[in-house]
Amino acid sequence: MGDGFPRFCWIVLSWILIISIHQVQLSEPQAAAAGCDYFQGSWVFDKTYPLYNTTDCPFIEKEFDCQANGRPDQLYLKYRWKPNDCMLPRFNAEDLLRKLKGKKMMFIGDSLSLNQWQSLTCMLHTFLPQSNYTVHREGNLSTFHLPEYEVSLMLSRNAFLVDIVQEKIGTVLKLDSIKNGESWKGYDFLIFNTWHWWLHTGRKQQWDFIESRGKVKKDMDRMAAYTEALRTWSKWVDSNVNTTATQVFFQGISPTHFNGEEWYGTKSTTCTHQIRPATDLTDESDPPPEVTIVKELLKNMSTPVVLLDITRLSQLRKDGHPSIYTGLKGNDCSHWCLAGVPDTWNEILYAILTSRKT
Ligand SMILES: *[C@@H]1O[C@H](CO)[C@@H](O)[C@H](O)[C@H]1NC(C)=O
Ligand SMILES: *[C@@H]1O[C@H](CO)[C@@H](O)[C@H](O)[C@H]1NC(C)=O
Ligand SMILES: *[C@@H]1O[C@H](CO)[C@@H](O)[C@H](O)[C@H]1NC(C)=O
Ligand SMILES: *[C@@H]1O[C@H](CO)[C@@H](O)[C@H](O)[C@H]1NC(C)=O
Ligand SMILES: *[C@@H]1O[C@H](CO)[C@@H](O)[C@H](O)[C@H]1NC(C)=O
Repeated sequence: MGDGFPRFCWIVLSWILIISIHQVQLSEPQAAAAGCDYFQGSWVFDKTYPLYNTTDCPFIEKEFDCQANGRPDQLYLKYRWKPNDCMLPRFNAEDLLRKLKGKKMMFIGDSLSLNQWQSLTCMLHTFLPQSNYTVHREGNLSTFHLPEYEVSLMLSRNAFLVDIVQEKIGTVLKLDSIKNGESWKGYDFLIFNTWHWWLHTGRKQQWDFIESRGKVKKDMDRMAAYTEALRTWSKWVDSNVNTTATQVFFQGISPTHFNGEEWYGTKSTTCTHQIRPATDLTDESDPPPEVTIVKELLKNMSTPVVLLDITRLSQLRKDGHPSIYTGLKGNDCSHWCLAGVPDTWNEILYAILTSRKT
């Protein structure tokens, strides 16, 4: 300690130091949330999971209820996602509902949106079993309402986001038209997703013609079509969403498990009888082009859209699909069992929503 520096100054300096350390500690959850990549991490065994038992979720879609459909193993229910650099906050339904009080959230997309919406409604219902919730469906719109908090969680089934229209020549998928968007206005939160239907051909293809830049065609390159549709969607968001009133999310690409070469299996290995997550993935699992397209496109937007970048964490969960336990024929390695992986997507959504000031 130099003679020229009075003892008093040292005391003041130490104070400042102590106070600033204290402040750093106080703001740590915020800092951790801001600095932490929720999407890099690993699955850890946690005996307190799952977050709910589907027997307590009366409105669960039968195809997601793997236990009820006879799935014999339960280990897949016991994994928690652990980001490398932070902890995900434990899901707290009441806390989330306080945040959402009086607000409306809409999931818009295909059955992966249904998967995530159902997961969230089950998570909320299970934690508040006394609530006088209502759930009903009208056409392609489902609404889950919790009157105690005046919270509505809606699901709009919409596989392509852009318009699909009945015309004289047949069903036309219109890459440059998004009149649909009118029904997305007035929500506090919008969570979009589209991908899985873009590659379907034959009987699973939903349209007869595709309209691109004013030209009606029998078919076109599907990645190009996907990119064009997403661009139409992004322009719609940029010119229609008031970001003071509405927060926009993109659900990200949910991976399938039909190709074991992505996780050191053989090409013919699928999700069937997989009872554990993969610990590692091969180069085959590197971000597929649809993921890159979404990321590029979101970067180009003026609206800050939060990407739920769930692809990689879900890629590890070869054990998470209904497979032969859907109650239907076939092998479903595309949707997810509930309870299960979409609960994690919602835990991350919760972490993002509650780490913000608003
Ligand atoms: C869910 O609850 C049912 C009925 O209480 C019980 O039989 C079943 O074992 C539970 N499932 C899990 C995965 O805990
Ligand atoms: C649900 O409705 C019943 C009957 O109207 C009422 O007695 C009960 O208090 C309500 N529950 C809550 C949590 O508001
Ligand atoms: C949803 O239903 C409405 C009314 O039935 C219909 O006009 C609209 O095209 C449907 N949207 C999608 C994406 O299926
Ligand atoms: C955007 O939303 C805010 C908050 O609801 C509102 O005050 C404002 O007027 C809106 N702006 C436009 C351009 O509609
Ligand atoms: C994003 O913007 C860049 C530069 O304008 C453009 O080259 C690129 O094609 C855009 N990407 C997408 C996916 O629209």
